[in-house]
Amino acid sequence: MKFFLDTANLDEIKKVAAMGLLDGVTTNPSLIAREKGNFKDIILSICEVVPGPVNAEVVSLDAEGMIREGRDLAKLHPNIIVKIPMTKDGMVAVRKLANEKIRTNVTLIFSPSQALIAAKAGASYVSPFIGRLDDISHIGMELVEQIVAIYENYDFDTEVLAASLRHPVHVVEAALAGADIATVPAKVFDQLFLHPLTDIGIKNFLADWEKAKQTL
Ligand code: G3P
Repeated sequence: MKFFLDTANLDEIKKVAAMGLLDGVTTNPSLIAREKGNFKDIILSICEVVPGPVNAEVVSLDAEGMIREGRDLAKLHPNIIVKIPMTKDGMVAVRKLANEKIRTNVTLIFSPSQALIAAKAGASYVSPFIGRLDDISHIGMELVEQIVAIYENYDFDTEVLAASLRHPVHVVEAALAGADIATVPAKVFDQLFLHPLTDIGIKNFLADWEKAKQTL
């Protein structure tokens, strides 16, 4: 499974990149709005430290505007993936950009039919939003299972990028469901490392070592 960070914060991205565990980054307008500076500059500086796809989202609602924005974003850096919302205009843009070899990620996916359409339109990635489905009392992870099954049935190349993941169990469940990618906030990434028995184990090993040293 590939790990993406769901953030536009360069410090968070640098920390995970330094561990060699970062496969890519997703941003959206809400995440960009939390950072200082110009949108394109933020995206470019992220591209400089990430050794893989960097997702940047369009804000137009009409196909023509999305295509124009998508072309502009794709020119910034070869690793840019253009995020496009799941709408009819969005799918027109996805097809057009795919024909121009510009990779897209269809975002705000909440149903398997939306994911099927996005794959047929030529999306390189789809982003089912798990936590937001959980928020309205759906079992969000069932959507990932359904999309994975559909894509396997028809050999779609579109990658399943599980998004809106809020805790480590979401990541594990997405991995079990066969998602290609999990994109997580930095806080959830840090939580993936934690287990109290690891901490206790280290503490006990070191205490025993202190005792053993005296007899060596
Ligand atoms: O990648 C999409 C993600 O940022 C949405 O997460 O927690 O706002 O639902 P959340």
